Amino acid sequence: MPVLEGKELRIVAFLCNWCSYGGADTAGVARATQPTDLRIIRVPCSGRIDPLFILRALLNGADGVLVSGCHPNDCHYSAGNFYARRRLEVLKQFLPILGIDDRRFEYTWVSASEGARWQQVVTNFTARIHELGPAPRLEDAEPLLEMAEMALKPLRPLGTGQKAPLDELKNAIKARIKDLDVVIGWQKGDDDAHTIPLFMRSEEDVDRLVWGPFNVNNPATYVNELIGSALPLAKKKKIGLVVKGCDSKSVVELLQEKLIDKENIVLFALPCEGTFDMARIDRELGRYLKIDKVEYDEAGVTITADGKEHRFCIADYAQGKCYNCSMPLAKNADESFGDMPQITGTPVTPPELAMLDAMTLEQRFSFWKGEMDRCLRCYACRNACPMCVCRDYCIADTREPHFISQEWSVREKIYFQCIHAMHLAGRCTLCGECQRACPVGIPILALRQQIARVISQLFDNYQCGMDPEATPPLLCYQVNEEHIKQREL
Ligand code: FES
Repeated sequence: MPVLEGKELRIVAFLCNWCSYGGADTAGVARATQPTDLRIIRVPCSGRIDPLFILRALLNGADGVLVSGCHPNDCHYSAGNFYARRRLEVLKQFLPILGIDDRRFEYTWVSASEGARWQQVVTNFTARIHELGPAPRLEDAEPLLEMAEMALKPLRPLGTGQKAPLDELKNAIKARIKDLDVVIGWQKGDDDAHTIPLFMRSEEDVDRLVWGPFNVNNPATYVNELIGSALPLAKKKKIGLVVKGCDSKSVVELLQEKLIDKENIVLFALPCEGTFDMARIDRELGRYLKIDKVEYDEAGVTITADGKEHRFCIADYAQGKCYNCSMPLAKNADESFGDMPQITGTPVTPPELAMLDAMTLEQRFSFWKGEMDRCLRCYACRNACPMCVCRDYCIADTREPHFISQEWSVREKIYFQCIHAMHLAGRCTLCGECQRACPVGIPILALRQQIARVISQLFDNYQCGMDPEATPPLLCYQVNEEHIKQREL
């Protein structure tokens, strides 16, 4: 019998079989009066709950989601709830960036003997959801199609990197190329205003290496496949990479996760002064038949296309990640040339994230509806991601388990992006390849940036890809978490 006034709402509850499900049973046997809005899903342990289950429920129309497991130290499988606590807290703090009120999701602990506590938890949570009312539906939201101007203030002077000691770098690569299977860098693309990856296997190849603001790809994307991480160590390939500071973080993260071995990688580095946001450059250039020339100076480039000059200052046209970059030169390179540029400011909120921070929850919800509507589900974001290492088994492609459908709806598109973001929680080095590769310019990096911010706040300023010896925070736990406080229900 409902104990709350008004229409029932849809609340999904994931309960651990060993404690909370027993607690709910105890409350039922004791005939404790409870609201009837809950639909309970029994799981073997709170550690079995993938945050994506919760997102799926919320996106599919649940008005609230409750998770309850055994009390800390009481998990039937020892530590399932400790791992779950970290994941669930990250999810809770991630929800607002999607425009979902985080009060619609809660997690708690109830033991099998705590029938009275279960009654209190379920009554209080249901009352909270009734107070919030039915959750906004994507179908009803008005798409917000205007993107606000982003505040772009770099931490250091950006430039075009034309004074970088490229010849020294080339000589160093030539000296080692015989010992390496391949060295990956950048070469001129179809014209002088674009680059493509360069796979160097001979000294002649090395001469084609270029350096500058058009070197946008992250060469670490190729590492996992090229090395052959599934092979025994002796059979693995030894490869070299020319990296910017941000690229090197992806390599460190792969080392951290033991997906590659340090013996198989040689890093060559030059100081990066910033890279162009090629989507904006191409938009500005419009349709053209031929790039006649590209002239560099310290502040930017002048591109002449079909006889018409276009001026691009790097301070105005850099990728969002470059404005907040505090590591322009790889720290852990085997061969490094040039000096670390002076960092004059302290890292601030990245521009994409700051834009979303300035919106209300409703505006963010509408914003993502408008942006994700354009998503083609081409998976370019996933394929360009250096940390997406399970491409053959990606749950976006598999039917077993069938996490996501092929339905052409904004909901499924957002869900796909949430899958990608959650799978990168505590792993994403914010290299921005996902956003750069997106052919329709959706600012999906903001989702990763929000998770990175949450991870940093919860786990002592943890930054992904900085320390090859560090354990990623969602792969470990502490019995007493300093920054995760139990919320009372
Ligand atoms: Fe209940 Fe792990 S068995 S939380």
